[in-house]
Amino acid sequence: MIMDIPAKLPRHVSFIMDGNGRWAKSRCLERIRGHFEGVESVRSVLETSVELGIEYVSVFAFSEENWGRPDDEVAGLMTLMMKSMIAEKETFLKNGVHFKVLGNRARLSDELNAAIDSLDEATAACARTTLIIFLSYSGQWDIRQAAAKLAAAGTGSIEDYLVTAGIPDPDLLIRTSGEMRISNFLLWQIAYTELVFTDTLWPDFRKEQYLAALREYASRDRRFGKVK
Ligand code: IPE
Ligand code: IPE
Ligand code: MG
Repeated sequence: MIMDIPAKLPRHVSFIMDGNGRWAKSRCLERIRGHFEGVESVRSVLETSVELGIEYVSVFAFSEENWGRPDDEVAGLMTLMMKSMIAEKETFLKNGVHFKVLGNRARLSDELNAAIDSLDEATAACARTTLIIFLSYSGQWDIRQAAAKLAAAGTGSIEDYLVTAGIPDPDLLIRTSGEMRISNFLLWQIAYTELVFTDTLWPDFRKEQYLAALREYASRDRRFGKVK
């Protein structure tokens, strides 16, 4: 049970999960071990979000730029994604979590794309919380593909064609590991998002650290350019 629930909760919390490699390195482990441990942090923040009734949780799991990492790390991350989807299915169904993947899906393998579609479909009904995994995603890619679709359609607005169409913009964006940058994550969508940066490495970011960030969010005064 969660004591001291912050008075004002975000509807959509987004995470730039960073620091897995450094977490592993500091323990003389392979980088992939850090990614494995990072999955536990996703489980933890998702479970807490479900408990709190937060509607959308999104995580930046793999950027378009991350394709430029060594082949074994890229392959390890894709395998981890596949294994985690299989392992979490029952928990998603039990907890009412709808699983979604957004990003440049054309770069993913057919096998991974099929597994993603099947889990998305299987978890769509009765969901209380939506988990969005941004995979092979970059903010500039998203704006570029949305602009192209808008030009082709000749009607609508940019928001209608971003991969996040229909999903509320994040209220809170948390980046771990001490880096103070966006690294080509959501660009258009974070226009008025509250930002929290923490030195904690992603594999160490669990319920306690999450609740601290939510308290920080609750203390912010959001004005959206207006006068209060
Ligand atoms: C974040 O951890 C996960 C991904 C980008 C896939 P990193 O792998 O970037 O970890 P550091 O930044 O090297 O510590
Ligand atoms: C951002 O982390 C991407 C993800 C968390 C998926 P990176 O580790 O790739 O970002 P930089 O290179 O430090 O900016
Ligand atoms: Mg990093």
